[in-house]
Amino acid sequence: MYTKKVMDHFSNPRNMGEIENPSGVGTVGNAKCGDIMRMYLDIDENGIIQDVKFKTFGCGAAVATSSIATELVKGKTVEDALKVTNKAVMEALDGLPPVKVHCSLLAEEAIHAALWDYAEKKGIQIDGLEKPKSDIHEEEEERDKISY
Ligand code: FES
Repeated sequence: MYTKKVMDHFSNPRNMGEIENPSGVGTVGNAKCGDIMRMYLDIDENGIIQDVKFKTFGCGAAVATSSIATELVKGKTVEDALKVTNKAVMEALDGLPPVKVHCSLLAEEAIHAALWDYAEKKGIQIDGLEKPKSDIHEEEEERDKISY
């Protein structure tokens, strides 16, 4: 069911932990499965992500997606980190089962939430960055309510 890469990042997660006084920190959750992911970013004066750490209270796929997401954004500029989509996260893991796609969305949103926090602290705007959702299923739930 899971690729070797998913199992590797789940069993041996990279960059797990937290950063004291981070440049930005973002937490996102999914109300349906109850999983929570937090990303910490250390960004230097040139806008380069020098360090990134995560804490995930969630399923194995959420741990694996957070782990690979930290590797994908480390050393990147803020603008390039923004391009790390859930699709990029899934590709880097050689795929995820369809029922686990939302776990990779959590990783994308956690990065965005941390970048948003960084931008707010610095009083800057990052092109293309939208205010993150606190719950990645907000829109779906709205739709569900309407259809009932
Ligand atoms: Fe919800 Fe994985 S099952 S994040």
